[in-house]
Amino acid sequence: MLEAMQKAGIDTRPVIIVPGGSTGLSVILAKGNDRAILTHPGLIPTLTAEEITDDLLNRSRHLHVASYFLQKALQPGIRHLFDRARGMGLTTSLDTNYDPSEEWQGVHELLSVTNVFLPNEVEICSLTAGDHVEQAIQKLADRVETLAVKQGAGGAIAARDGEQVRVKALSVRVQDTVGAGDNFDAGFLYGYLHHWSLEESLRLAVVCGGLSTRVAGGTDGQPTLAEARTWMKRIPEI
Ligand SMILES: Nc1ncnc2c1ncn2[C@@H]1O[C@H](COP(=O)(O)OP(=O)(O)O)[C@@H](O)[C@H]1O
Ligand SMILES: [Mg+2]
Repeated sequence: MLEAMQKAGIDTRPVIIVPGGSTGLSVILAKGNDRAILTHPGLIPTLTAEEITDDLLNRSRHLHVASYFLQKALQPGIRHLFDRARGMGLTTSLDTNYDPSEEWQGVHELLSVTNVFLPNEVEICSLTAGDHVEQAIQKLADRVETLAVKQGAGGAIAARDGEQVRVKALSVRVQDTVGAGDNFDAGFLYGYLHHWSLEESLRLAVVCGGLSTRVAGGTDGQPTLAEARTWMKRIPEI
């Protein structure tokens, strides 16, 4: 796994190797639009905020936390971690992913220290105890700097400073949607970190998410930036 990450240009030096520990692993059962994820947590619930050192933050410009609900030991420390990171000039983002316990606790307190919040529509509705995505966005848009909500084949909606934009999904032949949300996050954050407009960031996100669905697995369908830019012109108009 380290080798695969290195091949993709990821700096693996900060990866913590715990003797006797095992890496988290998910088996994703996908059929049509339905998907069930079975996760062996391994070390996922053991990472703590203290293990994210100032030295590591100093070398970074953005901090993204995903799978909030699986990261049990990290949860109590995230608010302080995001504060620390922002104090050092980083921006922060959060993709909670689904809560297997369906209790949806602890996220609201993080919104004021989160620059970009990236739920999907089921997650944002669960977090706001509502059943309509528009209402859920209204409830949270004022509480977080930038909000981007994934809607699967429905595309996505983003909100910031009273502005709201909506982008349709690419029409692609879907192989499976594994990793679509994470690829969406990566695209959106690229635009965000390069000070693109809200709409352009959302378009890149939708392209990265959409292209990842054309190929089995989460990483093999990832585009280069040049490919993504070409596809951005092919998004259907609303
Ligand atoms: N069936 C699909 N057709 C086209 N694009 C899709 C499809 N499913 C996902 N995507 C793209 O990937 C993005 C993220 O996928 P989604 O399934 O909403 O996220 P998550 O995996 O977090 O639930 C969507 O906003 C969309 O752009
Ligand atoms: Mg997701």
